[in-house]
Amino acid sequence: MDRTDRPRRLRRDGLRELVSETDLKPSDLIAPLFVDATATERVPIESMPGHERVPISETVARVEEVVDAGVETVILFGIPASKDPEGTRAWADDGVIQRATRAITAETDATVVTDLCLCEYTDHGHCGVLEDEAESDPTMTVANDETLDLLRKVAVSHAEAGADVVAPSGMIDGMVGAIRDALDDAGFDDVPVMSYAVKYASAFYGPFRDAADGAPAFGDRRHYQMDPANRREARREATLDVEEGADVLMVKPALPYLDVIRDVSEGFDRPVAAYNVSGEYAMIHAAAEKGWLELEDVALESLLSIKRAGADLIVTYFAESVADRLSTGR
Ligand code: PBG
Repeated sequence: MDRTDRPRRLRRDGLRELVSETDLKPSDLIAPLFVDATATERVPIESMPGHERVPISETVARVEEVVDAGVETVILFGIPASKDPEGTRAWADDGVIQRATRAITAETDATVVTDLCLCEYTDHGHCGVLEDEAESDPTMTVANDETLDLLRKVAVSHAEAGADVVAPSGMIDGMVGAIRDALDDAGFDDVPVMSYAVKYASAFYGPFRDAADGAPAFGDRRHYQMDPANRREARREATLDVEEGADVLMVKPALPYLDVIRDVSEGFDRPVAAYNVSGEYAMIHAAAEKGWLELEDVALESLLSIKRAGADLIVTYFAESVADRLSTGR
């Protein structure tokens, strides 16, 4: 073969980087943190090696570790001191997220995103108030419009505590519009909404549900989260959220849904976030523990692939370790 086009010419050291198409930087990453109002010390999360439930008193120290690793943004999940049918601790002024957010914004430079959902706060573990028949009739779960009223209160309480961004994750119809209105009415028109616009009813959330104690007590979330079989419906969800005022569109999970990330990034003029979820993290760790995969290489390749698919930012449990590796150039 002579005058053939030879792509290998550009794969030489010194040239490869120059023609690299995708760039992954620490500032693309958001680190999830679990703040636990019931904890008095850090408690490791077994199915998510390297992650812990952190007491409110340790939150600032934990965020400083994340910032030192080069990650500037955290997303907070709360484990409340008590749960009830409505999830009232989700909008309590002295709730776990409200206290943690006040401390972080007062004492660090980190950007704080708050996950806005009720599943960690309700005693039944669903992402809203239940329909009357929910426990006896498996086709009934969350009462949509009643839940919107609660999400409005949660959004305002997060903003009052100083959240830089709120991220509604409940897949309740109309949640973005309701939250946008509530924030605007309360004078928080500058607080962006990063919507979990396209969130699938996925089996990859298992380790998270242990970590955040947010598994539903009965049934599952298929009546509000999306069917993994559906691609066109992702466009419909994203369209609605844009119309309702979403500033950032999230797709979740990430690796099994790269086609959807691509669709949303090509179809909408909003930044796209991808959530590289707990199960994606846990399975790589498990394989690495067995010596079957190289942990850091697989983590980096995963995040690069998510960006290549079209994500602008990535929520990932690998944020700290990958940021550290990117900045030390190893
Ligand atoms: C709450 C929420 C969940 C996740 C993020 N926000 C759990 C769920 O929907 O069941 C999962 C994140 C992960 O698996 O890393 N609604």
